[in-house]
Amino acid sequence: MDNRPQWGTRAGFVMAAIGSAVGLGNIWRFPYVAYENGGGAFFLPYLFAILTAGIPILILEFTIGQKFRGSAPLSFFRLNKKLEWLGWWQVLISFVIATYYAVIIAWAISYTFFSFNKAWGEDTGGFLFSKYLHLAETPGEVGAPVLGVFGPLVVVWAITLFILFKGVKKGIEKANKIFIPTLLVIFTIIVIRAVTLEGASTGLNSFFQPNWDKIMSGEVWVAAYGHIFFSLSIGFAIMITYASYLPKKSDVVNNAFITGFANSGFELLAGIGVFAALGFMAAQANVPVEEVASAGVGLAFAVFPQIINQMPFGEFFGALFFLSLVFAGLTSLISICEVFIAAVQDKFNLTRNKAVIYGAGLASLISILYSTNGGLYFLDVVDYFINQFGIAVAGLVEVILIAWVFKQMNPLQAHANAISDIRAGGWWKICLGVITPVVLGYMMFDLFKQNILQQFDNATGNYEGYATSFILFPGVFIAAGVIILGIVFSLKKWGSAALNDNYSSGSDKEVGL
Ligand code: ALA
Repeated sequence: MDNRPQWGTRAGFVMAAIGSAVGLGNIWRFPYVAYENGGGAFFLPYLFAILTAGIPILILEFTIGQKFRGSAPLSFFRLNKKLEWLGWWQVLISFVIATYYAVIIAWAISYTFFSFNKAWGEDTGGFLFSKYLHLAETPGEVGAPVLGVFGPLVVVWAITLFILFKGVKKGIEKANKIFIPTLLVIFTIIVIRAVTLEGASTGLNSFFQPNWDKIMSGEVWVAAYGHIFFSLSIGFAIMITYASYLPKKSDVVNNAFITGFANSGFELLAGIGVFAALGFMAAQANVPVEEVASAGVGLAFAVFPQIINQMPFGEFFGALFFLSLVFAGLTSLISICEVFIAAVQDKFNLTRNKAVIYGAGLASLISILYSTNGGLYFLDVVDYFINQFGIAVAGLVEVILIAWVFKQMNPLQAHANAISDIRAGGWWKICLGVITPVVLGYMMFDLFKQNILQQFDNATGNYEGYATSFILFPGVFIAAGVIILGIVFSLKKWGSAALNDNYSSGSDKEVGL
């Protein structure tokens, strides 16, 4: 029997998978993406993307991890030697994401405390960019670490490292069993408060009202697919790693459905809460909701403080909102770090503690860059490129290689069905072999057209108007660098422990709830 760690219970694994999926993306990304892409009309492409790509890929990644019982590079290597580089590519994408994801959680910690006395004052945007982030004037300028961000960043890494040092069962599983139910309670309180605010129904109308013209545009479908990858934590090795800690006989198909629907349920809840609150704000200012809705960082850290300013007991609900971002973010950050910790541990035969120190330690050092004056610009560019050209492309390559090049769908399907409560039928192969490659293939074509070709088109300009040099480095450089470095890592030979063919051992049965 090998000594790979294992989840204590099925509920523990499912909770950890949900903890990974539910993250910053659900709370501040989803509501705006949905709104921007046709409100109610977005749900059709969103549902389509979940059912044809999200859950099928989740089943695929759970099956690969559970069957081959290794970190992503090792599992892919065991599937076919020529696939190892794909594992490393995904591991490196996770590494890059971890470095900036931690910083957003650090902001949320600061804002939890700012809520107590509404420290942001009336000009919430000015407070965020000038007083809190001390943002540099020019993108690309680094400056020095900003103490107000650096401090909470140290706290984020201290908590994350502490949980990771404790291991899979006593650390990750235990933390998720505490954080996820807490998050659900906090978030339910916030949403109930939000929907009972004056003007909430106007906000909800603009969220749910279908814009049928938009549904015909390819962009909306691209947005839905793009969002699903990040939101479900698929395409960057997380679910393979988590499933590698499953016992020999454990369900994968049903667990994938539970994880996928729980994530969407939470996302929908977040959308309702955010738009009800925006409706309230629009009603106070007597303007349409479109004028107050905003994206990403702006929505959570500039618009929300404004809502909190106007809300009865705003201090309390503000603190709860930012605390929910902290909890949702931490459980995802832990899963992102586990990906590269498991990979270096397998490849270099390290003890877990050493792998945590080297992997998460290095990520924490690099993350200091995003706490500097120029941090936000770096974060914006790296996040955009690693999402669009990292996760989604890695997901596309994964399904094409497995379904078409190495033709592994049948054995993987047989394995999943032999251990699962429900079956992955013919629909599963059609989704992964045909629908997902076609839609994602189109999406990539469209993105390349927009981003690469338009770089040279003065009329449309660069992403966010950044200078081309700043787009090339860090954006394109990192997105391409992780592929090259992935290939380099795959050239190093595995140690004898990893090559042991007895990997399918481990304890026999999963433990009940
Ligand atoms: N799935 C995580 C999120 O949505 C990474 O933020």
